Amino acid sequence: MSKSLSLLSKRAGKINPQSVEDYVSMGGFSALKKALTMEKMEIINEMLDANLLGRGGAAYPAGKKWKQLYNIEGEPKYIVCNADEGEPGTFKDKLLLKDDPMSIIEGMIIAGYVFNSQDGYIYIRGEYRIIQEKFKESLEACEKAGYLGDNICNSGYSFRIHVVSGAGAYVCGENSGLLNSIESKTGRPRVKPPHLAEVGLFSKPTLVNNVESFADVPLIVEMGGKAFAELGSEGDGGSKLVSICGNSVNRKVVEVGLGHVTLRDLIYDEEFGGGIADGKELKFYHLGGQSGPIGFPEQLDTPYTAKALKKEGLSVGSGALVVLDEDMCIIDYLLKVCEFFIHESCGKCTPCREGNRHVHNILTKFAKGTATEEDFERLERLSATMALASSCGLGQAACTALDSCLKHRRAEFEAHMRGECPVCFPKDKEGK
Ligand SMILES: Cc1cc2nc3c(=O)[nH]c(=O)nc-3n(C[C@H](O)[C@H](O)[C@H](O)COP(=O)(O)O)c2cc1C
Ligand code: SF4
Repeated sequence: MSKSLSLLSKRAGKINPQSVEDYVSMGGFSALKKALTMEKMEIINEMLDANLLGRGGAAYPAGKKWKQLYNIEGEPKYIVCNADEGEPGTFKDKLLLKDDPMSIIEGMIIAGYVFNSQDGYIYIRGEYRIIQEKFKESLEACEKAGYLGDNICNSGYSFRIHVVSGAGAYVCGENSGLLNSIESKTGRPRVKPPHLAEVGLFSKPTLVNNVESFADVPLIVEMGGKAFAELGSEGDGGSKLVSICGNSVNRKVVEVGLGHVTLRDLIYDEEFGGGIADGKELKFYHLGGQSGPIGFPEQLDTPYTAKALKKEGLSVGSGALVVLDEDMCIIDYLLKVCEFFIHESCGKCTPCREGNRHVHNILTKFAKGTATEEDFERLERLSATMALASSCGLGQAACTALDSCLKHRRAEFEAHMRGECPVCFPKDKEGK
């Protein structure tokens, strides 16, 4: 029996994404019509029942975020969709942006209606240039058909969505950096508090949610929060898009019920990753992008859901699953992760700006076989300091992958200290 689901992805590849007619023919905008007849608090209660953990990486409960904003005084309130999709290995938002943009638009309009907002913004990564243009076409089509703009579905409610392009900085995916970037300021994260729900875009109360989170909203309104929650597992409701890539046989986006598949299913089942390419062995896998934890073969039977993953020191994060085979050296891999963070750090705070460089220097010693016992302690201290003292999630999470490897594969670091590594220092046939 198939373990995959087809709810969020049900229209992908089956409709012309810029056609309102096609979208409506497969159930589109019926949730919006229903929402426009509901009390705003009723919609928030459905969001609370849904147990939707935000799909952008931090897994903050969406219903709670909506309720907090609802209780904040002040006008106007802004709706912002985070379509920066900057985590390497993550391309699940792309599926929705490209193949079912109106599900995101519908979710944003419902959110706008709840908060009586007049304007929404979608911040789409600069690399998705063609998608940006197509998204604008979808917005125009929705406006022409009366689902966006003035007097939506003759309800008296009006809402517009503006498209803003990113320019290639990973840190602009951080929600406050993103708002600064929309305001044409340097895309550096803000110091919080104040939280964005109170002082957000143009200093006004603001909702920031991920693409997939917004696309989930019509499903929640349509089927009800409780039914949505049951698609997932305890405390982690709904289905989830996962982007699988790296050394797996298949590289694609799949949809699964949270908690209804294991990491083994995702990597090995034919309908998902399909196993390791070229008959090689699995060495490790990276969950949730560069800022996420690394998992190992002995953790493969963990169900793919927040609570079970947390127990193993793992997480869903951005929804990426990058598979690495036996030919990958862990130290080499960690050096690349570290180089990514050195490149993407905005440089505002010392623990992140300097810490990533120090980590890189020490990992280089391991790679060269010149590291000592004290270097373990230095790495652990740096990682703990960066997690505690960095100002935003980038610096706080930069050593997550390193921590997983230090915990589970210390022996591979020690082998490098002795100048041994099957990948970096392969022995010849005589074992020399
Ligand atoms: C460095 C950094 C990059 C991020 N990049 C993204 C991104 O590309 N897309 C995204 O949705 N969230 C990203 N986030 C998370 C956002 O700050 C925020 O939590 C999210 O957009 C909220 O939406 P959600 O509650 O629906 O998940 C990033 C966070 C950090 C610290
Ligand atoms: S943690 Fe890094 S990216 Fe975040 S504000 Fe500090 S220097 Fe900038």
